Amino acid sequence: MDSIVIRGGHRLKGEVRISGAKNAALPILASSLLAHGTSTFKNVPLLNDVATMRRLLIGMGATVEPDGGISRTLRINTDGVDKVEASYELVKTMRASVLVLGPLLTRHGRAVVSLPGGCAIGERPIDQHLKGLEAMGAKIILEHGNVVARAKRLHGASIVCDIPTVTGTENLMMAASLARGRTTLENAAREPEVEELGRVLNKMGAHIEGAGTSMITIEGVEELQPIEHAIMPDRIEAGTFLVAAALTRGDVLVRDVVPEHMEAIVAKLRSAGAEVTPEGDGLRVRGRAEIQPVDITTQPFPGFPTDMQAQFMVLATRARGQSVITETIFENRYMHVQELRRMGADIVVDGRTSVIRGVPKLSGAKVMATDLRASASLILAGLVAEGETEVLRVYHLDRGYEKIERKLRALGADVRRMKGRG
Ligand code: EPZ
Repeated sequence: MDSIVIRGGHRLKGEVRISGAKNAALPILASSLLAHGTSTFKNVPLLNDVATMRRLLIGMGATVEPDGGISRTLRINTDGVDKVEASYELVKTMRASVLVLGPLLTRHGRAVVSLPGGCAIGERPIDQHLKGLEAMGAKIILEHGNVVARAKRLHGASIVCDIPTVTGTENLMMAASLARGRTTLENAAREPEVEELGRVLNKMGAHIEGAGTSMITIEGVEELQPIEHAIMPDRIEAGTFLVAAALTRGDVLVRDVVPEHMEAIVAKLRSAGAEVTPEGDGLRVRGRAEIQPVDITTQPFPGFPTDMQAQFMVLATRARGQSVITETIFENRYMHVQELRRMGADIVVDGRTSVIRGVPKLSGAKVMATDLRASASLILAGLVAEGETEVLRVYHLDRGYEKIERKLRALGADVRRMKGRG
């Protein structure tokens, strides 16, 4: 397992280009199961989770080119799919594997997907996915740790999600796109990645209205066509670099972002005292000497994203005063707190609420990554800590950040990857 070593104290300067969005790429790659022929996807991020989705599709009988090396352009043909299964080995490494459930069921009439176990940030059930598929006529049983779903042909249904689940909305949208008749999804997730998937499915010939709003209507069609599509930029990677620049009192142009995806993040950065201004195809952020405390409550989009909570907690550890962060989406998304405390942060957690009192400095230490965004927060802390920080088990980070140490080094950070350590 690799680790990443950072020597703190460098102000970030320059510009960084954001990669394609992980949480858009995963459902879009899964959607290739719905169309016949070969679809081409561009600006695909070079991430471990994308490699896992690729392995999953190939394991089912799809062809993915180029084979072997990883590439930002993938050509996928799923006509050869003859194994409608997602094994525990792959699902346990990536929960988003559940995104093949809807497409397999609606195109092949059967799917066997391992029930994802819990993960570091919470139990993360998929009851909403299954409830919606059953409403569309699927017969679902749970056996030997697998979801076994069957349906001669799904039919339209009126579905109300108990919670606005992102991958639940995506699974049901994909399933409904080839169902017979009309499906409505109420209380659907409104994330930009959901809207992007709706755009992709409509390019394939689906009839979807309202993707990106809380009410989505899908008129099922008989078949979907292959397409070419470029993945949109990753708003969470962009937010992570914006925080890094503010934290180090730097001056960074974060390029290739979609401003309307960043509004809640930018608003909180400005409250923290950073200057954020649109510039060309990106956002320029200039950090100020003094960071102001910020109060944050994570919410479904368009509220403040849970995937940026850990990163803003690092900012709060360096603020002049007390910040309160409340995590409403996941029940255990504070795994980064004990590691930040080891670096001198003053954080008290009470259930879903954490109180962070700013401290004059953080000190470098060996710290352990536990989940994707917690890992990112430890890298950020290392950028401003006194001395050296080593973040262990950075395979968590590689799931969702493309070459983060290279991008940070190009901005002036003293950061390097240690192979096989930690
Ligand atoms: C997606 O996960 C993202 N992953 C997550 O990003 C993100 O944190 C999350 O949405 C929230 O925005 C992908 O898009 C691949 P949910 P997802 O279903 O779909 C509960 C990252 O760091 N729930 O919206 O799994 C669930 O337990 C990752 O990139 C049910 O109870 O999240 C959670 O408390 C981490 N039943 C809440 O809803 C269900 O059937 C939101 O979960 C589904 C979800």
